[in-house]
Amino acid sequence: MNNFDKPWGGRFTQATDVFVEAFTASVNFDKRLYEYDIMGSIAHAKMLAQVGILTRTECNSIVEGLQAIQQEILEGKFEWSVALEDVHMNIETVLVQKIGPVGKKLHTGRSRNDQVATDIRLYLRYEIDLLGAQITRLIKILAEVAEREADTIMPGFTHLQSAQPIIFGHHLLAWCEMLLRDRDRLQDCRKRVNCLPLGAAALAGTSYPIDRRYTAQLLGFETVAENSLDAVSDRDFAIEFTSCATLLMMHLSRFSEEIVLWSSAQFNFIELSDAFCTGSSIMPQKKNPDVPELVRGKTGRVYGHLISLLTLMKSQPLAYNKDNQEDKEPLFDTIDTLKGCLRVYGDMMPSIRVNREVMYQAAGRGFTTATDLADYLVKKGMPFRDAHEVVGKVVRHAIDTHCHLDEISLDVLRSFSVLIEEDIYVKLTLEGSVASRHHFGGTAPQQVRKAIKRLRGRF
Ligand code: ARG
Repeated sequence: MNNFDKPWGGRFTQATDVFVEAFTASVNFDKRLYEYDIMGSIAHAKMLAQVGILTRTECNSIVEGLQAIQQEILEGKFEWSVALEDVHMNIETVLVQKIGPVGKKLHTGRSRNDQVATDIRLYLRYEIDLLGAQITRLIKILAEVAEREADTIMPGFTHLQSAQPIIFGHHLLAWCEMLLRDRDRLQDCRKRVNCLPLGAAALAGTSYPIDRRYTAQLLGFETVAENSLDAVSDRDFAIEFTSCATLLMMHLSRFSEEIVLWSSAQFNFIELSDAFCTGSSIMPQKKNPDVPELVRGKTGRVYGHLISLLTLMKSQPLAYNKDNQEDKEPLFDTIDTLKGCLRVYGDMMPSIRVNREVMYQAAGRGFTTATDLADYLVKKGMPFRDAHEVVGKVVRHAIDTHCHLDEISLDVLRSFSVLIEEDIYVKLTLEGSVASRHHFGGTAPQQVRKAIKRLRGRF
């Protein structure tokens, strides 16, 4: 395309280098913003009419033209041109072709700099709401599974060593807490996303008597950016969003790691449905947990996007710089990745088969009720440190004689401490151990049921 035909071609006498044209263009990825670009343009045109810069007829013509373009894009009939650089100039150029010279008035009192900042904010606000709904869906699904497994005993781990028996539902509720915080963080980030940059124009504002509050109202922005330089240049809101995204992915990677471990032959705590696994092309027996593995792997790309965006913004002098065009791909990919991972998790979780018996047996290995024995002694008056020492010796004995704690006879137990009586055996059962953690936030089945109820009240 000849530069004279470009919206900014006036001061140019030579054509852009062909490679540079492609190198500087963003339309191949920013066309994703078209809906928000049109939404922003319609609001801008209406504001211009409101303050008398455009006539009502001019405004209507622009609005109708933009709506027709939106329809064409939806139907796949719109021809995107790399020569027209970005989504903004593509749409504006076609608008002028469609409605004639009046289309050229749309860009009054506006720049692509405040335009693109507005588009991204509108887009991100919408996606944050979708993500919030997806997180809520996953939490609800996990709560269902937790309810089903509110009596299922499994080993709780520290250092990946069996530590104390817990309820599987309690473990799933821990995941729910992480997800709830992720959702809250996104919600909080949304406040800072939901601010109108339009009106900042290129960087200094504009000489037209614009009404930014009116534009903000039309677009549902809660606030209007206070400073024009800041409005066009900073992308901290995108960085903040991506940092919320990294935390969410970090959590999903932890869930994934546990699912991979639990579904291994060594743990055998759960079995994933065939629909969420694939086989091996060489080993006929294999059924691989691809979904959690991929989610775990995708965490890396989201972390990478956070670093990309931070580095993109680092040291940028005010105000807008072309560097900022690089904000889109990391942001888009972050959103796509989150959506995919949340969706697949929500689909996969209800279909896992829980091997309750295997979990139960595993919970009984590794002297997981040793703390209960120590607590028993403390309740009979022994200082905790002494009780710890005594139980350590009992465990040593159990290791040497290859038995579980509750298989040691009362006589032998009493040789370690005369405080031990017949009633110790209920305390040493897995059921007794979990039931005794009967307080707010504890793993007793009754508490797990209460926690599920409270959780549901938090949506
Ligand atoms: N495509 C650009 C971006 O994504 C739009 C703003 C360009 N502004 C400019 N003065 N070149 O950031």
